[in-house]
Amino acid sequence: MSYHATVQQVYRRAAREPDRSLCCVPQAPMFLPGLKIPPIMHEMNYGCGSTVHLQDMREGQTVLYVGVGGGLEALKLAYFTRRAGGVITVDPVAEMRDAARKNLQEAARLNDWFDPSFVEIRDGDALDLPVEDESCDLAAQNCLFNIFKTAADPTEPGDLERALTQMHRVLKPGGRLAMSDPITPRPMPRHLRDNETLRAQCISGCLTYDRYIDKIVGAGFGSIEVRSRRPYRMLDQARYGLDAGLLLESIEVCAFRVPIPGDGPCVFTGRTAIYTGDDESFDDSRGHLLLRGMPLGVCDKTAAALAALGRSDLTVTDSTWHYAGGGCC
Ligand SMILES: C[S@@+](CC[C@H](N)C(=O)[O-])C[C@H]1O[C@@H](n2cnc3c(N)ncnc32)[C@H](O)[C@@H]1O
Repeated sequence: MSYHATVQQVYRRAAREPDRSLCCVPQAPMFLPGLKIPPIMHEMNYGCGSTVHLQDMREGQTVLYVGVGGGLEALKLAYFTRRAGGVITVDPVAEMRDAARKNLQEAARLNDWFDPSFVEIRDGDALDLPVEDESCDLAAQNCLFNIFKTAADPTEPGDLERALTQMHRVLKPGGRLAMSDPITPRPMPRHLRDNETLRAQCISGCLTYDRYIDKIVGAGFGSIEVRSRRPYRMLDQARYGLDAGLLLESIEVCAFRVPIPGDGPCVFTGRTAIYTGDDESFDDSRGHLLLRGMPLGVCDKTAAALAALGRSDLTVTDSTWHYAGGGCC
């Protein structure tokens, strides 16, 4: 069976019968005033985190959501857009599109403010999105891109590279790419990587953190925020034929379609810099003004540059993996 057929089979089955073992991380449901989520959407939550973050939401946005699943995140996104076609979803599995449509009808029954036309469900593929260039403010995917294979030959893009380039293409300049995927602490052993069923089930296709970030940058995203990292699955030694257990994590990131700076991308992982010298502030003459005593969120590149100054009046804190924004006012 081809890999494409395996993916179709896994998600056709998951559309017909909710599968609690597929994806998902321990997470309290998101409560928003006036939003009632049909229970079936929770049962069909095949995401490994959240791609819905209040800081990304603006009025009048057009949002693309790739890999609709049971429609849970599309509904949450529509809560903010609230207009016909404000959320466009793309999924190649007919059964999944039908299940999402049915679940969104149920959502309309439960929520006065919601109309199913708010979510347009298109037949299509992440590798060739049926979406116009530079038409979206926000594009999201949850626990899908990890199933795509990377380039075997560095001169030819693999499916993951293609999917990321497609997201970059459809975003407006400055637009945001919100993603959640599993990552692995060390490269996935070949026998698991080559197991296509495990890969389609979001278990064995994942990359290390560094490679995951590199792939996003490689698609042209100049700034990335790491918003969360937490345990996803433990692949135990015996069951998975490993030398030692492998604890996969789920990562949530938001990447911005901005040019990549000449000295490299800005990756924010929750690090801050704090000035405690005699002056009111410290200016690093590279665009960062540190007010005395106040932590300033900085990217890893700036954190390294400030730490390299070796000044006793500068403290640079470690990655929290929960970036929440730049300053405090
Ligand atoms: C792991 S599920 C995630 C579903 C949803 N994002 C969620 O959070 O519940 C993967 C979804 O992507 C869809 N899918 C599979 N291959 C795809 C492709 N090549 N392009 C777009 N969607 C795809 C599946 O049908 C399924 O809906």
